Amino acid sequence: MSPTQAKEHHGAAPPPVPRLLPVPGSPGRTRPDGSSGPADADRAGAACPAEACDARQVDADVPAAVGRVLDAVLADRVARAHAVDEQFAVDLAARVADFTRSGGKRTRSQLLWWSSRACGGDDRASVAAALRVGAALELLQTCALVHDDVMDGAVLRRGRPALHQDLRARYAGSAPLGRAGRFGEAAGILAGDLALAWADDLVAETALPAPAVRPVRRLWSDMRTEMVAGQYLDVHGQVTSAQGPARALHTACLKSALYSVARPLALGASLAGAEDGTVRALDAAGRCIGMAFQLRDDLDDVFGDPGRTGKSVGADIREGKPTYLTALARARAAAAGDDRALVVLERSLGDTGLTDAGLAQVREVLEATGARAVVEAKVGRLVARGLRHFDGAPLDPEAGSRLRGLLRRAAGGGAGTARAADLTGRECGR
Ligand code: IPE
Ligand code: MG
Ligand code: MG
Ligand code: MG
Repeated sequence: MSPTQAKEHHGAAPPPVPRLLPVPGSPGRTRPDGSSGPADADRAGAACPAEACDARQVDADVPAAVGRVLDAVLADRVARAHAVDEQFAVDLAARVADFTRSGGKRTRSQLLWWSSRACGGDDRASVAAALRVGAALELLQTCALVHDDVMDGAVLRRGRPALHQDLRARYAGSAPLGRAGRFGEAAGILAGDLALAWADDLVAETALPAPAVRPVRRLWSDMRTEMVAGQYLDVHGQVTSAQGPARALHTACLKSALYSVARPLALGASLAGAEDGTVRALDAAGRCIGMAFQLRDDLDDVFGDPGRTGKSVGADIREGKPTYLTALARARAAAAGDDRALVVLERSLGDTGLTDAGLAQVREVLEATGARAVVEAKVGRLVARGLRHFDGAPLDPEAGSRLRGLLRRAAGGGAGTARAADLTGRECGR
């Protein structure tokens, strides 16, 4: 049982008391996991010297502030990996650290930060905790992407070979092709596990403001489970015929909307000690906009520019992913009796050898059935509905406005101009 789980344990019998190991350099002080260093409260101070913990200074460049926390955490983790085993450190730990340090837009940690700031989190303890839990979100994202690329058979990530492909290529000369491929996938699973372990450690080792302890641990735990559930439904949908639009939306919510947007917002609000109603409003906003975020990602997979997305175009089609976009195209083609469109979809979805010309035909069908236009419109509606959850929430005006801008950009610049009449229906539970 991890320290986080131990704190969540509410069963009748208490969890067994772990053996306590001495903490090097801290005579008489011990912690259950045997890790070294100062106790949590001291550590927050060490990780956040006064000048780095000034909320306004962080505001000026949030990704840089999160990056500094990640640099410190990753340097420590890689050094400890070298003490464990040189091969492991060089091949896996260093790759996980590089992937986390060098890539990404830091969307989730920025959402957490601005949510916390919008809810008044500007004291030193909140700032330190928001930066550390934000950095943990970035590590969780490393886990999610590395595992996702193994599951999706992806070749490219952030414009570079996916981590498991990189490891496969590194050892391709030493093994037959199939074996190197399996090795790459196994190594990718382990790399993702390592990132998740580091993320959990970081949360467990962060001194949280007292009222935030329970909600933050609960949100973190729920978020991890939701992501796994969503990824499971995603691959399950590939091998079954359970691919209708409603199920596709449910999958998108679990696999992405919650951990990418809703939970980071709720974590930020909880860290700042926001009232329950405010946490709920931000969570609800995040569900809508997180859904828009994933629907935009699905559109980008087919219509996006790989130079911008850093991913191969058409990967969802070739893998037969049960996205809302393709589920909708199927449903609309069936309703219109458009057999030609149905045949194109039937033979193309899941065809790993689909040519560029075949992909162009799928694009044509997605346009002709109106599925693309409907999804684009839905993205705009979801952003608008999400932002309406801000109305009446007691947020700091300046930080609230930064947060709204960030949310709009996360969903790919969703216009947010839908008419009130469009703002009905329910996606993602709220
Ligand atoms: C992945 O969804 C969601 C998670 C990583 C949990 P996708 O499979 O659509 O993500 P991309 O398109 O590969 O980034
Ligand atoms: Mg993927
Ligand atoms: Mg996926
Ligand atoms: Mg995708």
